[in-house]
Amino acid sequence: MSNSITVHDKVFVPYISNEDLEAAISKVADQINENHKNEKEPIILLCVLNGSIMFTSELMKRVRVPLEIMTIKVASYSGTRSGGKIQEIMGITGSVQGRKVIICEDIVDTGATMVYLDKRLRESGAAQVEICTMLLKPEVYKQNLKMDYVAMEVPNRFILGFGLDYDQLGRNLKDIYVLKD
Ligand code: IMP
Ligand code: MG
Repeated sequence: MSNSITVHDKVFVPYISNEDLEAAISKVADQINENHKNEKEPIILLCVLNGSIMFTSELMKRVRVPLEIMTIKVASYSGTRSGGKIQEIMGITGSVQGRKVIICEDIVDTGATMVYLDKRLRESGAAQVEICTMLLKPEVYKQNLKMDYVAMEVPNRFILGFGLDYDQLGRNLKDIYVLKD
């Protein structure tokens, strides 16, 4: 892995390699393949923009049951802090009525975004809602909602790369970096 990088005003150091991320994503895809092997209808992978673009694309390559991709865009973060208040910037790109949906998130931190999305999908008539997150911060997450698939757990530190940004930059990094303390 490469050395430390500077994004805006902050220095980040390598933390999780692309190789380790992809191995963890493969495991999650296997669980989805197993749980959904007998579906009569395609499942929906809901990519939560923008952060989950890279995760969803790596995941969907490895999911072998028929699926459709939909997207939604929400925001809760500004800078390196979660604001808690969720804004829906772009609605869901299709109907989820009567469908089985797997929400694909880059990271679950306080869980405020996930609670919002779960409720939103149920209100829109989804037949089943599952949650698949690449990363979870268990020290911060205190909601009752169950995480169905978690690729990796991370400590309560600000991380960057593989879709995750710091004020919109750093999403294209193929490894994950952590804020240097
Ligand atoms: P939550 O609503 O507090 O769970 O925050 C979820 C959203 O905050 C994620 O979808 C990310 O976009 C963002 N987020 C949380 N932690 C980090 C981080 O360490 N780096 C970058 N973005 C983060
Ligand atoms: Mg996000």
